[in-house]
Amino acid sequence: MPDHPQHEDAELHEGERLQKILAALGWGSRRVCEDLIIEERVTVNNEIAILGRRVDPLVDLICVDGAPVGARPDFVYYLLNKPQGVICSASDPQGRETVIDLVPSEPRVFSVGRLDFDTEGLLLLTNDGVLTQFLTHPSQGVEKEYLVMLYGSPRLSDKALRKLRIGVELEDGVTAPAKVSQRSDNTVTVVIHEGRNRQVRRMFEAIGEEVERLVRVRIGPLMDSKLKPGVWRDLTLAERKSLSEFMSKSSRR
Ligand code: URA
Repeated sequence: MPDHPQHEDAELHEGERLQKILAALGWGSRRVCEDLIIEERVTVNNEIAILGRRVDPLVDLICVDGAPVGARPDFVYYLLNKPQGVICSASDPQGRETVIDLVPSEPRVFSVGRLDFDTEGLLLLTNDGVLTQFLTHPSQGVEKEYLVMLYGSPRLSDKALRKLRIGVELEDGVTAPAKVSQRSDNTVTVVIHEGRNRQVRRMFEAIGEEVERLVRVRIGPLMDSKLKPGVWRDLTLAERKSLSEFMSKSSRR
């Protein structure tokens, strides 16, 4: 038996060493990345990787703990600050502007979930189907945080706050518990992890309040208060890593 059977065959592949690619993607030092491979937490094209494996990041799909690490440069991840009056679909028969018109046309991307025509704020667009499926699946409970500005300047009663927190009866069932806090006279912060149609607006209608402005300020670990409406940017390496970590933690739950 060779001392390091993991190295056998691994050298036959062309490309960069896997631990070097992982380290470049921000997973830690080469040593830490070697340990990830030895602990069998890394797969390449759905097979457990062995130490010394070489990969071509242009073609190989690399995952840590089952979550793609975004090494494939054909995957793009845009964080857009969606303005009011833009729709979240690929095209609109009425010719209105869509979120797809606001980001590069190639490669083709789709939005991860939706925001209403009048809702503003953070929206993720990507061509990574695994991430989309994960972030939109109700069982994953990814938190979405909204700033809700109400008509008039009502301070919600304790009873109304409690109702929103515990769950309100909507026509498609009672909402799951939410984190709700009054921030100022007409502004309330709401954190939900469901993704029902017009959910936040309907929750407030159910307690007799009308939403004047609705802004999404966080999706899971993603936040950016400096991104201007209508502007997009690529996710940073750290953000992609935090999404991967978030996915792998959830898949171990
Ligand atoms: N809740 C809503 O009511 N609208 C959105 O766009 C998102 C959440």
